[in-house]
Amino acid sequence: MDSMVIRDVTVDDAKRLSEIYSYYVEKTAVSFEYDAPTEEEFRTRIERISAKYPYLVCEIDGKVVGYVYAGKYSPRSAYNWTVTTSIYLDRNYHRMGIGRKLYEELEKRLRKMGIINLLAGAAYCEEEEEYLTHDSCEFHKKMGYSEVAHMKKVGKKFDRWYDLKWYQKVLG
Ligand SMILES: CC(C)(COP(=O)(O)OP(=O)(O)OC[C@H]1O[C@@H](n2cnc3c(N)ncnc32)[C@H](O)[C@@H]1OP(=O)(O)O)[C@@H](O)C(=O)NCCC(=O)NCCS
Repeated sequence: MDSMVIRDVTVDDAKRLSEIYSYYVEKTAVSFEYDAPTEEEFRTRIERISAKYPYLVCEIDGKVVGYVYAGKYSPRSAYNWTVTTSIYLDRNYHRMGIGRKLYEELEKRLRKMGIINLLAGAAYCEEEEEYLTHDSCEFHKKMGYSEVAHMKKVGKKFDRWYDLKWYQKVLG
């Protein structure tokens, strides 16, 4: 890997990020959305999320290969120190340490904001299959998250029911 850069997102990243994400929407159960957002919708989401929380992309040799962001868990005031985290990499760039780098930078930014609790939801099925691996669960465990909830058969996609596991990391 020649040059890896992690930087803040801009709305001009919408096209590339929607390309990365649409694979997970259309071909996998990683995302519980059925329809991939258009570039325009992605632009709107970037604007809304990055106005409040860190939203970062990773570039390798000038090409965006993944992104990460934090989002509100709930609008109720008592949750002000709790966020959700989301991360998606181009499927050709897994297991190269990019996810770790993005999550570490995200955490650094969230600590500075005074955020304490990170929550990540991961689709889950007992046996890995054509639409879902255990990558997200294993990744989150490696990144210091603990499983705190296991909701059974809450998402239906491709005519199959999927569980959702929630992982939590408490920033010291
Ligand atoms: C989950 C995802 C972000 C992981 O990113 P990645 O770049 O492949 O992960 P990394 O290479 O940085 O791995 C970080 C650590 O997790 C471990 N890890 C990652 N995937 C793993 C797996 N499937 N099984 C076991 N360990 C795994 C690595 O070994 C590494 O450990 P180490 O740093 O102690 O050596 C990536 O697979 C992805 O984009 N998946 C599809 C989208 C998704 O599932 N997003 C999460 C839902 S919000």
